[in-house]
Amino acid sequence: MVMNVERFIEDAIAEIQREVKGKAIIGLSGGVDSSVCAKLAHMALGDRLVPVYVDSGLMRQFESERIEELFKDISLVRVDAEDRFLDMLKGVTDPEAKRKIVGETFIRIFEQEARKIGADTLIQGTIYPDRIESEGGIKAHHNVGGLPSRIEFARIVEPLRDLYKDEVREVARGLGLPVEISERMPYPGPGLAVRIVGDVTKEKLAIIRKANAIVEEEVVKFAPWQAFAAILGMATGVKGDNRVYGWVVAVRSVSSRDAMTADVMELPWEVLRLISSRITGEIPSVTRVVYDLTPKPPGTIEFE
Ligand code: XMP
Repeated sequence: MVMNVERFIEDAIAEIQREVKGKAIIGLSGGVDSSVCAKLAHMALGDRLVPVYVDSGLMRQFESERIEELFKDISLVRVDAEDRFLDMLKGVTDPEAKRKIVGETFIRIFEQEARKIGADTLIQGTIYPDRIESEGGIKAHHNVGGLPSRIEFARIVEPLRDLYKDEVREVARGLGLPVEISERMPYPGPGLAVRIVGDVTKEKLAIIRKANAIVEEEVVKFAPWQAFAAILGMATGVKGDNRVYGWVVAVRSVSSRDAMTADVMELPWEVLRLISSRITGEIPSVTRVVYDLTPKPPGTIEFE
C-alpha cells in the first residue's frame, strides 16, 4: 500500500494534541514502533511528553546504552526494573501468563512514573497486526491483550493503530529517524521472555542474550524480517573429554511482510555452521544448536 507519509504525520500530531491536554508518558523500547510514536508525540507535545525506558532485564545486549545514546536529545527517564520483572516471572511457564505478567509489570511502572509527574495519558506504539492477533485470540500482545483490566491512566492513545510495520518504517524514514531504527528487526515487547521456553531465570537470560547477539551479527546482512535465538530445553553433549548436560538453542530466521505469516529463510550452510560453532564455542553451557524449519503457520515467529 502506498501511503501519504506527510499527511499521516500531520494527522497523528493533530490527534495527539487533541487527545492529550496535560502530560503524557510513553514507553520507549528502542524498536521502530515506539520510536516513531515517541518522535510524533514529542513533536505534538514537547516537554509535556515524558518518555520512559524500562530496563526489564529482558532486553537485548547493550540495548539500554544504545537507547540512551539514540534519545539523548529527548530527556529520557530510565527505570531499572530487572529484579522486579524476574520476581514476577519466577517459576511461571505458561506463555500467555508470561506475556500478561510482563504487560502488567510495564503498566504498573508507567503508572508509578506518571504519578510522579502528574501525567494522565499513556501513549503506545501499538500497530494493526498487534491488535488483530490480540483481538483474534491468537495471543495477548503484551501491550494489547496483555493489558490489565484496571489501569490508572485516564486514556491510552495509539497513533499507529492502523499501520502495518512497513508503513511504520516509511513514517520513520519520513521523520528522519536513523536507519538503525527505521530498518531495525521487530522485537517483541515481552522480549527475551518469549525466547525462553519455560520459566525465565537470570542464567537463561544471560545465555539467550549472547546467542541472540551472535545470530543478529551473522544474519543481519541477509535482511531477514527477524533472526534470533531461543532456548528450548536441555540435552546431552560432549565438551572437551566430558559428557555434559547443557542447553539446546534454536536459531530462527524468517522472511515476512507483516508478521501474520512467515517463511523460513534459506541461509547458506556455512553461515549456519558458523552460528552453531560460535554459539557452542562462546557459550560454554550450550551443547546443541538447531535451526527451526517451520513457517508460520503452523509455527509462530517467536517460540512462546
Ligand atoms: P508471533 O510469534 O505471534 O509474532 O508469530 C508475530 C510478531 O509479533 C512479535 N510479537 C510480539 N510483539 N508483544 C509484542 O509487542 C508480544 O507479546 C509479541 N509476541 C510476538 C514477534 O516478534 C513477531 O514480530
